[in-house]
Amino acid sequence: MLTREKIIEALNDVLVPGITNSIVRMNLVQDIVLADTKLKLTLASTALNEDARNWIKEKIFELLKKLDKAVEIEVEFIEKRPLELNSVKNVIAIMSGKGGVGKSLVTSLTAIALCRQGYDVGILDADITGPSIPKMFGMNTHPQGTESGILPVLSANGIEIISINLFLPSEDEAVIWRGPMIGKAITQFWEDVLWGKLDYLLVDLPPGTADAPLTALQVLPINGAIIVFTPQDLTTMIVKKAVKMAQQMDKTILGVVENMSYLYVPELQKKIEIFGKSRGDEMSRAAGAPLLAKIPIDPKLALLCDEGHIERYDSEVLTSFSSALFKVIPGKNA
Ligand SMILES: Nc1ncnc2c1ncn2[C@@H]1O[C@H](COP(=O)(O)OP(=O)(O)OP(=O)(O)O)[C@@H](O)[C@H]1O
Ligand SMILES: [Mg+2]
Repeated sequence: MLTREKIIEALNDVLVPGITNSIVRMNLVQDIVLADTKLKLTLASTALNEDARNWIKEKIFELLKKLDKAVEIEVEFIEKRPLELNSVKNVIAIMSGKGGVGKSLVTSLTAIALCRQGYDVGILDADITGPSIPKMFGMNTHPQGTESGILPVLSANGIEIISINLFLPSEDEAVIWRGPMIGKAITQFWEDVLWGKLDYLLVDLPPGTADAPLTALQVLPINGAIIVFTPQDLTTMIVKKAVKMAQQMDKTILGVVENMSYLYVPELQKKIEIFGKSRGDEMSRAAGAPLLAKIPIDPKLALLCDEGHIERYDSEVLTSFSSALFKVIPGKNA
């Protein structure tokens, strides 16, 4: 005897072709009507071409017929925009007024920390002219999709990722666009990508306080920001501008992260503060939010970024960042 629960359980095993997420996780299942031996399923056809739709249909028939041979199945596809389907609980921006301080690194480590806790996580790389997320995760597949929507690419551990670099013919191709075009791309990454059901979407913001980060802060329903800085005079001065920008736009600052805080030399058993004394307390006060981590300069981390294996990173620093993060991040079940 088929029940709604059994049907959903079976649909959880029907994967969207091209990515390893189910049609349930991608929120494509719109309606289930079961009456006696008749079952009508309504699915959204968003981002699915004809082959993908047929494949899904066949898989559904195969799995449900196994549960109940007598069931008569009808599958109807309806058109929906990704924006109507996406159910993203929290959108967290990672920002810094300054370039090269480690925003993309902190975005990646945050995603890894949340993913390891079992949350469904995505990364929207809003850095259109300097995207670095795909490189850190070692990705080079093009996103699939149709006129109706784009599918994110999944990392080795299932983090959904969208970045302009994934659309380019080669990763060293340049995107030479003016502000409005960049803003449009960020908006499209939010509105036209089928993110499905996500606990957290992390937004890697480009440096500065101009057009692109501004658009992202205005267009996306950001409910928390993490500020990244390094312990240099010039950096803290500029990063304080990003803090002001977030505050002026009523974005809650969840915490601050000091990157390249020190270098640990095991032979000397000594921490060397290459860029000067920690500015953690100063930035924490300026942002009115806790210092979540002091990330050292770690050659192992740099190597994993370059090799595209950031998901293999593990360290005491990541563990303590993770627990500090869980004290402030919205929407956790703890
Ligand atoms: N703590 C660290 N230890 C070792 N390498 C690091 C560390 N932080 C950053 N890096 C390296 O420095 C480079 C710059 O970091 P990242 O790309 O995260 O900076 P960003 O702020 O996002 O830069 P941009 O402003 O260009 O977007 C990366 O290649 C990364 O591998
Ligand atoms: Mg970056």
